[in-house]
Amino acid sequence: MASCTTLPVFLGLLSLLIFLSPIPNTVAATASSYSGGIRLGIIRKPSSHVPTFRQAPAFCNGDSCGNERIHVTMTLDANYLRGTMAAVLSIIQQSACPENVEFHFFWGRFEPHVLSNIKSTFPYLEFRTYRFDCNRVRGKISKSIRQALDQPLNYVRIYLADILPSDVKRIIYLDSDLVVVGDIARLWEIDLKGKVLGAPEYCHANFTKYFTELFWSNPVWAKTFQGKRPCYFNTGVMVLDVEMWRQGDYTQKVEDWMEVQKHKRIYHLGSLPPFLLVLAGNIKRVDHRWNRHGLGGDNIEGKCRNLHPGPISLLHWSGKGKPWLRIDLRKPCSADYLWAPYDLHHSSTDSLEEQ
Ligand SMILES: *[C@@H]1O[C@H](CO)[C@@H](O)[C@H](O)[C@H]1NC(C)=O
Repeated sequence: MASCTTLPVFLGLLSLLIFLSPIPNTVAATASSYSGGIRLGIIRKPSSHVPTFRQAPAFCNGDSCGNERIHVTMTLDANYLRGTMAAVLSIIQQSACPENVEFHFFWGRFEPHVLSNIKSTFPYLEFRTYRFDCNRVRGKISKSIRQALDQPLNYVRIYLADILPSDVKRIIYLDSDLVVVGDIARLWEIDLKGKVLGAPEYCHANFTKYFTELFWSNPVWAKTFQGKRPCYFNTGVMVLDVEMWRQGDYTQKVEDWMEVQKHKRIYHLGSLPPFLLVLAGNIKRVDHRWNRHGLGGDNIEGKCRNLHPGPISLLHWSGKGKPWLRIDLRKPCSADYLWAPYDLHHSSTDSLEEQ
C-alpha cells in the first residue's frame, strides 16, 4: 500500500473561509484584482485537447472506519472531466473513511483517454464504469433554454436504478461541477424516512415558474401536486433509494412526463422538471449545507453569485459559468477560489498565484 494521507489537508482552510460569510474581504479583493487583470495572449488549447492531470495522493481510512460502502454516482464526459476530477478529490480528501467510498461512473460516448486519465490520476480509487445508451433518451429530449442541459448524459440520473447492479441499494448522485467540503458519510447516512429521494428543498423559490401556462391551465395536469406542498429541489445532489425506485417504477413515471413534453411544451429546463413533476412535495428534506448551488450564475449569462450564509458541506457551480473556465480566463468569481484547491489540472498549479 502506498503511503497515505489521512488528514483532510484543506479542511482547516476551507472551514475558515466558509464560516466567514459573506466571503471575506481578502478573498473578494483578490478576486476583483484578478478580474481586472486579464492577460492577452493566453494560449488556449484546442477544445478537443484532453487535459492531463496530476496524480492525487492516496487517502486511507482512519482507525474507526467500518466497512460499509458509500456508493457515489457521477457521469463521465471529456468536457467536464476537470470538474469530475476535482469533485472526486474533494470527496476522498474530506472523508474520514475514503477507502469506503466506491464510485460509479456513467459514460455515453466511449472516450478511452477519459478512463485512462481517471486511472492515472486516482490509482487507488475504487470505481466501476457503465455505458449509458444515449439512444434511450435521444428521442425524448426537447430543447431547453440552455444547450448544455440537453446533453443525453444529463438524463442518466433518471436511469440509474435500471443500470446499477442489484448489490447497490442506495446511491448518492452528484453533478460534476461541485466539490464536497464535508464528510460525505454524513450525507450517506441520512434517514430517508420511507421516501425514494433525499435532497435539499427550496420552498421560497416560486414553484409556478418551472412550468408553462399551458401546463397550469390544463385541469388534469394542474392537479399533479394536489394535496402536496411542492418545492423546488436541485437534481445535482440526490440520495436515492435504488430499490424503492425500481419497485415504484419511477423511471417510467419520469419518462411519461418527458413524453408529454415532446408534444406539448409544459416546461423550459432539461431533466429537472420531470423530476419535480413526479417527486416534488414527496421527498426527504436534506439540510441546505449539502447543496449550496447556483455558484455558476444564471442559465443565460453565468454572472458571479455569492454564497448564501450558513454552514457548507457541498459547493455547487450550477448555472452557466464553471470555475475552471473562469480561472483559465483569469476572471474568477470569489467562490471559484474555493474550487481551485481541488483542481488537479496539470497546468493550473500556479494559475491563481503566478500573476
Ligand atoms: C409566481 O410566478 C407566477 C408566474 O410567473 C406568478 O403569476 C405568481 O404571481 C408568482 N407568485 C409569487 C408568490 O410571486
